[in-house]
Amino acid sequence: MATRPDTAAPAPEAARWLPFSEPSIGEEEIAGVLGCLRSGWLTSGPLVAEFEEAFATYVGARHALAVNSCTSALHLALEAAGVGPGHEVITSPMTFTATAAVIEHLGARPVLADCDPVTLNVDPRAVAAAVTPLTRAILPVHFAGQACDMDALEAIAREHGLAMVEDAAHALPTRYGQRMVGAIGDATCFSFYVTKTITTGEGGMVTTERDDLAERMRLMRLHGMSRDAWRRYAQGGSWSYDIVAPGFKYNLPDLAAALGIAQLRRSEEFRARRAAIARAFDAGLAGVSGVRTPVVADPDAHAWHLYVIRVEPSELTIDRDTFIRELTDRGIGVSVHFIPLHRHTYYRERYGFAPGDLPVAQRAFERILSLPIYPKMTDADVERVIEAVRDVAQGNRR
Ligand SMILES: Cc1ncc(COP(=O)(O)O)c(C=O)c1O
Repeated sequence: MATRPDTAAPAPEAARWLPFSEPSIGEEEIAGVLGCLRSGWLTSGPLVAEFEEAFATYVGARHALAVNSCTSALHLALEAAGVGPGHEVITSPMTFTATAAVIEHLGARPVLADCDPVTLNVDPRAVAAAVTPLTRAILPVHFAGQACDMDALEAIAREHGLAMVEDAAHALPTRYGQRMVGAIGDATCFSFYVTKTITTGEGGMVTTERDDLAERMRLMRLHGMSRDAWRRYAQGGSWSYDIVAPGFKYNLPDLAAALGIAQLRRSEEFRARRAAIARAFDAGLAGVSGVRTPVVADPDAHAWHLYVIRVEPSELTIDRDTFIRELTDRGIGVSVHFIPLHRHTYYRERYGFAPGDLPVAQRAFERILSLPIYPKMTDADVERVIEAVRDVAQGNRR
């Protein structure tokens, strides 16, 4: 994690650096990993199978396949859904590059549809307008842990015969009506990167209701090999295997699954703490001039991976970047989710985007910043964040 910058304010209460994110690793996680180390089996095997089964049950999915990142999950899911050269996949600009990069890896084109100004999820009207005869899939991103308007997106997918592959890197656990994210689209991709709501250090999971997709992804996650290592090297296994496709090396090791099993058991506890912090931020920042808290339709359905505030430049003498600097000067780690994809050199040069394209994402980008929100934060940490945001806003009021 980042260390406190040299420019930090000297006030004693600000001397301690509050990281933007920190995982909650307890004795259960440590015991799980030690147990795996002592077992002698480190790569994908029985703990991966146990993790997959627990995960599928948790989100209500028919299949769950553990992989080594959400990026791998997205790549596998799109490949299995038949995305290839010359195709288009519609996604959001308010995401991490991985979402779009995997589309490019398959020789297809990421088509960016603008966001809803309130949720920063992709706007179904923009998605509908972006469909062409080349479109093969919609790739919505459940921004911050709040579900997209899946009814509207599913209607578009049905009308045009498109696959629905969801980027749920932020969305464990997220509810959408009676369903959990993970049991909605053709395939749903989760991240267990260290900042996410549960972690395996690095890792991911892809869920699906479809047997055909599960079969293809299972094959492609491990070299396109007809038989995995556990079934080859375990007692009673056979040395023989066949390669039936040029697959990837995307399997999750048991060592990481041991961590995942313990983390998954704590998912509800983690969510409750994140939700409590979000409520405290809502209350503590309500009515602060120059600051807007997130507007959320159903806070109980939200995973609260991120708590994104917006600064309102017309009410402040400083811009968002200076607001961030002033918070870091007070020892608070913050981040920005996201620099919209069309602002990055690669996408700009490849597709000729101008900053004014995707105006909703652009306008939001100039205002957003993500506050720290994770179960390990104490009530005093939460209070410190609120005080720091209030202090910066009030000290720079227009
Ligand atoms: C929206 C989104 N999608 C995908 C990813 C990629 O996840 P991973 O690091 O597990 O590959 C991230 C990671 O930050 C993300 O935020």
